[in-house]
Amino acid sequence: MTASSLPRHVGIIMDGNGRWAQLRNRPRLEGHRAGADSVRDITRAARQLGIEALTLYAFSSQNWARPAEEVAGLMHLLREFLIDERAEIMDNGIRLEALGDIEKLPPFVREPLDELRAASRGNSSMVLTLALSYGGRESIAKAACAAARDIAAGILRFEDLSAERLGGYLPTATLPQLDLLIRTSGEQRVSNFMLWEIAYAELVFVDVLWPEFRREHLYRCLEQYAARERRFGMTSAQIAESSDV
Ligand code: FPP
Repeated sequence: MTASSLPRHVGIIMDGNGRWAQLRNRPRLEGHRAGADSVRDITRAARQLGIEALTLYAFSSQNWARPAEEVAGLMHLLREFLIDERAEIMDNGIRLEALGDIEKLPPFVREPLDELRAASRGNSSMVLTLALSYGGRESIAKAACAAARDIAAGILRFEDLSAERLGGYLPTATLPQLDLLIRTSGEQRVSNFMLWEIAYAELVFVDVLWPEFRREHLYRCLEQYAARERRFGMTSAQIAESSDV
């Protein structure tokens, strides 16, 4: 795979933890725990490959409605991850970021999260973004509110609010454009993840439960991505012409 066929930004919907546990007659939380091991392997592999940005859907705005025990267990897992992986994230020059309603997270998650975000701010080998209490629609609504506020304050003219401008209000505006979205577990939907950002992303659905997803599966997804022709609304001939120059 050449550097140009490598996606700059990969997003992953990490699905199937519950089913993985259920298949083993184990509590759902064990599936999430095993899923955290996949997070470690995929983060390492992505950095080693030279992917610039990896965004993981770790907890959706809608996941708060899950049984309280599962929500609490996931929060503890997140805290554990942030504490245990701190050294590796720092040693490998990874910048940690977060997307979503972070203020809704309990302080015992928010504190190590904020601390690591601040400590890793200057790192540049890869940006690892955790989508936490995140929803794509919620994110777009927030961006629209922020733009409306700027219009009301006279900072932005109503007629200048283009798609590009609105995109600038999204929390993902500083990340490279999303190139590849992967969803594990065989489900083929986007479940409110990066709705704006997937506009021209390639979608790959993998029939593997997240706790079993390892770097070999990521490599296969990247091969599929490299074999796709991205046209961004243009024709094949136009794309061929522009890559000739
Ligand atoms: C979806 O599987 C997964 C989640 C809601 C949580 C994802 C969390 C982790 C992978 C572990 C912790 C994360 C980090 C960053 C350390 P599901 O429970 O909906 O699976 P199911 O569809 O089989 O029930």
